Amino acid sequence: MTWWKHGAIYHIYPRSFADSDGDGVGDLPGITARLDYLSWLGVEAIWLSPFYRSPQRDFGYDITDHTEVDPLFGTLADVDRLLAEAHRRGLRVILDFVPNHTSIDHRWFAASRASADDPKRDWYIWRDPTDNGPPNNWRAVTGGPAWTLDPRTGQYYLHSFLPEQPDLNWRHPGVRQAMHRVMRFWLDRGVDGFRIDMVDYLLKDEHFRDEPLDRHGRYEPALARHQLNQPGTLDLLRELRAVTDAYPGRVLIGEVEYRLPLPRLSGYYGQDDMLHLPINFWLLFTPWQAHDLQTLVTAYDRALPGHAWPNWVLGSHDISRMATRLGPGQVRVALMLLFTLRGTPVLYYGDELGMTDVPIPPHQARDPWEGRDPARTPMPWTSAPNAGFSPPGARPWLPLGDPSVNVAAQASDPGSPLRLTRALLALRRGHAALRDGSYEPAPAPDGVLAYRRSHAGEDVLITLNLTDAALDLPIPGTPLLSTHGGTSPVLRPHEGRVTLLSGPAGSVHNEAMGRARSFSPKASACSPV
Ligand code: GLC
Ligand code: MG
Repeated sequence: MTWWKHGAIYHIYPRSFADSDGDGVGDLPGITARLDYLSWLGVEAIWLSPFYRSPQRDFGYDITDHTEVDPLFGTLADVDRLLAEAHRRGLRVILDFVPNHTSIDHRWFAASRASADDPKRDWYIWRDPTDNGPPNNWRAVTGGPAWTLDPRTGQYYLHSFLPEQPDLNWRHPGVRQAMHRVMRFWLDRGVDGFRIDMVDYLLKDEHFRDEPLDRHGRYEPALARHQLNQPGTLDLLRELRAVTDAYPGRVLIGEVEYRLPLPRLSGYYGQDDMLHLPINFWLLFTPWQAHDLQTLVTAYDRALPGHAWPNWVLGSHDISRMATRLGPGQVRVALMLLFTLRGTPVLYYGDELGMTDVPIPPHQARDPWEGRDPARTPMPWTSAPNAGFSPPGARPWLPLGDPSVNVAAQASDPGSPLRLTRALLALRRGHAALRDGSYEPAPAPDGVLAYRRSHAGEDVLITLNLTDAALDLPIPGTPLLSTHGGTSPVLRPHEGRVTLLSGPAGSVHNEAMGRARSFSPKASACSPV
């Protein structure tokens, strides 16, 4: 099996992981210094949100140089060190690739806006005003019109996000080649793949037609069909895949629309010649009810073509944290779900601790779209001042959360979400049924989500109690792991269990619920920080 199908991908928001130099912002040497933690945890790969040169108006998703490291995060030598140290530990490194737009400060845009005749003019999207002002009624994802007038040439430029993030024109071959070169630059340095930002925005309607309005005559993002998702997008992805495929063993992950209908999501795999993993965001938007989740998982499983490998996400830097959305009671069950479904799990940093959103007082807000800061707060490592994120005395860029939630405390607590995460990752490594097995829904009473994973005679049952009630439910099989450790004749509130129904040799286990092993087999060997 390929590495990116094996294990979990751990998503790091570099600003918030570890600050080595005390400027309050996480950095590359900070990440490198924490790689032992990630090996200890047992993830397969890390994905880093952008660290490229950027004025940080959208915290790195606005790039001024795709092949330079922003001094805030370190240097190219720091990237090389991070890659070498990660690879030495068997960890893969995936970078964020932001193709749709650059920063307004990028030299390409400086040239493009300088004059209508500049060779780089058409690297971005320029249109004449209309009588109403902007060329059409398109809106930015961040709010407001998607067009900004540039007085120098009297034309508007398009930005699907902030005005400081002008959209590149992917219909221009020069743009495509330049961006392919960016990919090769990092692939040559040894990165193991990319997470591509905002894939569906790459192409816009050639005729720049107005978006349809809703029945009240208002712009409705859900109706937008000209600003995104144009047919040729898939051809662009095929090109990006060809660039990547020249380097063996690399992966292409893609951020697509959150609520993309499953057949369209499957389309992004192409004939195994586009994205390896179009991100499946559906767990974030499905009601946390056994029935709805079962329906989702089954439908997704059935929608994927044979060559497609699934993936699952429970958090990101753009949405409220898992523990806040689902409530702290469900954290363990959610982690068990994430790591036992069929497909590659993507874990957002801190979710292994059950970190919650941290309320940000208005004067400390940093996100220009507002609202995303609470899920981006610094990783808490210890109970020291600044939680071991920044050296004592420094001022972290966002406030810290509950000081009792930290890696050191949870590493020494066998009942913690962190230790559960580690045990789940180990369990996954140890059981082919969990890694590679088929998925089959299993019957269960209301409020319980149950499914079987099977591979080569190994048959594993997962039973998740999504309610806060104890349930008198006989669970067949030999206990492998409980979210709550210890034993109990009933399925405890918010408890999840993994049991072995039959082993790889075909041996049948059908004992009544026995002693559920605590999820800390190597309790003494824990010192990640
Ligand atoms: C993606 C990123 C988000 C960013 C946006 C614009 O959605 O995840 O953080 O603001 O793209 O690049
Ligand atoms: Mg720093």
